[in-house]
Amino acid sequence: MNVLDFQRMKTQEEKISMVTCYDFWSAQILNKSNIDCLLVGDSAAMVIHGHKTTVPATVDMMLNHIHAVSRGAPNKFIIGDMPFCSYRKGLSQTMHTVDEMMKAGSHAIKLEGADDNLEIISHIVKSGIPVMGHLGLTPQSFHALGGFKVQGKDEQAALKIKAQAQGLQDAGCFAVVLECIPYLLAKEITEQLAIPTIGIGAGPYTSGQVLVFQDLLGLQKEIKPKFLKTYLQGFDLMTESLNQFDKEVKNTTFPNIQEHCFQGKVS
Ligand code: KIV
Repeated sequence: MNVLDFQRMKTQEEKISMVTCYDFWSAQILNKSNIDCLLVGDSAAMVIHGHKTTVPATVDMMLNHIHAVSRGAPNKFIIGDMPFCSYRKGLSQTMHTVDEMMKAGSHAIKLEGADDNLEIISHIVKSGIPVMGHLGLTPQSFHALGGFKVQGKDEQAALKIKAQAQGLQDAGCFAVVLECIPYLLAKEITEQLAIPTIGIGAGPYTSGQVLVFQDLLGLQKEIKPKFLKTYLQGFDLMTESLNQFDKEVKNTTFPNIQEHCFQGKVS
């Protein structure tokens, strides 16, 4: 997949699948899968580093994750997420960060919000770098939004998100993530835009869907938002296997001399 396929898939009404990825190991699995594209999301701050929000994500943190993912998933289109405030520090510093993220292995970057970001988005796009937008619940604004809350529920808020989506398209974004908004609003935005929308908690009418790797595989048990479908009980399966190893170490059935040991002469 390359950036042009996003538009083609929307035109041909083919749904787009995107999954977050933060490390070499899961990138290798995703590289073998049918998933269309990978997002090295700043959700890494929460999922991998244990923070309560994405605010603590830094450029260095994201660069490390992008490097690892690009080594593990050479066949996938990789979108690097610009962390909190990294695109709000003036044109030159923003472009320095974008440059680093592309050199680390991203094929596109994503940033949250519209309004004051449209000028910088347009500059990044004109520099030959594909930009994915992100509207609705923009987690980097956790403190301004008063928490992780569904956005666009009343008419005024819905109109604002629709106008922002149009602004992102006009600024040159190739796609836009719609997070935690009413599904009928997501449907209207998807119909209004020429570019594809990728939903998370935005219902079935978006052009594609994105989920966090650890959420969809049931590898964490802390957070279970309403929009999440879990496709594997990964946490429980891994715990069972670890407990089996512990049991076999303690009852000395592992290692087995025939299967797991090296032969040799002892003096
Ligand atoms: O960082 C992230 O994981 C994201 C997705 C939720 C879209 O931005």
